[in-house]
Amino acid sequence: MKLLIKNIKKLVQVEETPRTWVAGADMDKLPVIDDAYLLIDQGKILDFGPMVNCPNVDAGVIDATDRFVFPSFCDSHTHLVYSGSREIEYVDKIRGLSYEEIAKRGGGILNSAKRIAKVTEEQLYEESLPRIQEIIAFGTGAVEIKSGYGMDPENELKMLRVIKRLKETTPLIIKSTFLGAHTIPMEYRGRQEVFVDLVINTMLPQVAAEDLADYVDVFCDKGFFTVEDTDRILCAAMKYGLRAKLHANELDYSGGVQVGVKYNALSVDHLEYVGKKEIEALKNSETMPTVLPGAAFFLNMVCSPVREMINAGLPVALASDFNPGSSPSGNMKFILSLGCINYKMTPSEVINATTINSAYAMGVEDIAGSIARGKIANVFITKKIPTIEYFPYAYTSHLIEKVILNGKVVETSL
Ligand code: NIG
Ligand code: FE
Repeated sequence: MKLLIKNIKKLVQVEETPRTWVAGADMDKLPVIDDAYLLIDQGKILDFGPMVNCPNVDAGVIDATDRFVFPSFCDSHTHLVYSGSREIEYVDKIRGLSYEEIAKRGGGILNSAKRIAKVTEEQLYEESLPRIQEIIAFGTGAVEIKSGYGMDPENELKMLRVIKRLKETTPLIIKSTFLGAHTIPMEYRGRQEVFVDLVINTMLPQVAAEDLADYVDVFCDKGFFTVEDTDRILCAAMKYGLRAKLHANELDYSGGVQVGVKYNALSVDHLEYVGKKEIEALKNSETMPTVLPGAAFFLNMVCSPVREMINAGLPVALASDFNPGSSPSGNMKFILSLGCINYKMTPSEVINATTINSAYAMGVEDIAGSIARGKIANVFITKKIPTIEYFPYAYTSHLIEKVILNGKVVETSL
């Protein structure tokens, strides 16, 4: 049965010919159709246009008078498979400890690693599923999920198998990233090259043999993995056909951006420390600069120079970084608001950054990220709101009325 959404006040992010990404001054342009219809068939977008051209078809009908229809958000960077929570460190941070100080004391990522080691695959799946349900209600239609709290082959595989199961059992488009090199386990401190060997020689082959990952990631930053470590891991991963999505330049000018571009990374993420050299490296590359406003907000970090990147003609994507340590939220609408408030991005820019550009940053731009014929029908219908700008402006209001994934209305609750 077809589904027809009619009388849409504005159909947002429409594309006659899908683009790979939106860059520079184009990021401030958002194609919309006023008083529109959207026709869905067999889980895909069949057609759309102004109401005057609305076809007379046999279909289930949703009347979207006074409501906007957006393509679902693509959240291209998360760590949402984890066990327990880390509000104790949140209090440590309030009392003045930095993220790096907490990590040095064995907290941070290692704290989550201890929890992962204690739970079964089944328990980890059960803990992660409500987070998927929550982000669906927040309007996300595609999500990338990383491993990285395993620290050893057994637990990294456990995380990746949970991600695989989430792919198979939920209506979201999910991409999986192997982040074996997230932090250096205590027993490898002072000889981290041995841990890198373990990632390359033991973990990677097992991950590849079970076909558990779409991408590979390394936390290439001060106090974590070096450019040389990263180079070795990316070189090894290339042999298994795994493209990189890197954590880079969150804590310093780490060289992460450059090594990412060298390996044609799909994205380099965080980017608080980006200067002229990093911008030059990103120009003419196929690597999407991805900013994570939730982590910078939660950790009170400096903001990535988004405006400089856009002025240099680059595209920018935004993602949530949903994780228990630096960004315990997968609410992409809040990411839009943070992009506007803290990075001075316009509403059009943040919408482009969380749809078309973040779809590219997770390799799903051919099936998601815009309203285009043939793409998967992952969209949401807003509540009655006056303008598109109202959506990021009303920064804590839940403004999504209906979520449609694969062409079907999904029951949600928050
Ligand atoms: O993207 N920066 C590195 N990794 C994560 C944090 C993970 C954690 O603290 O649990 C991030 O912010
Ligand atoms: Fe992250």
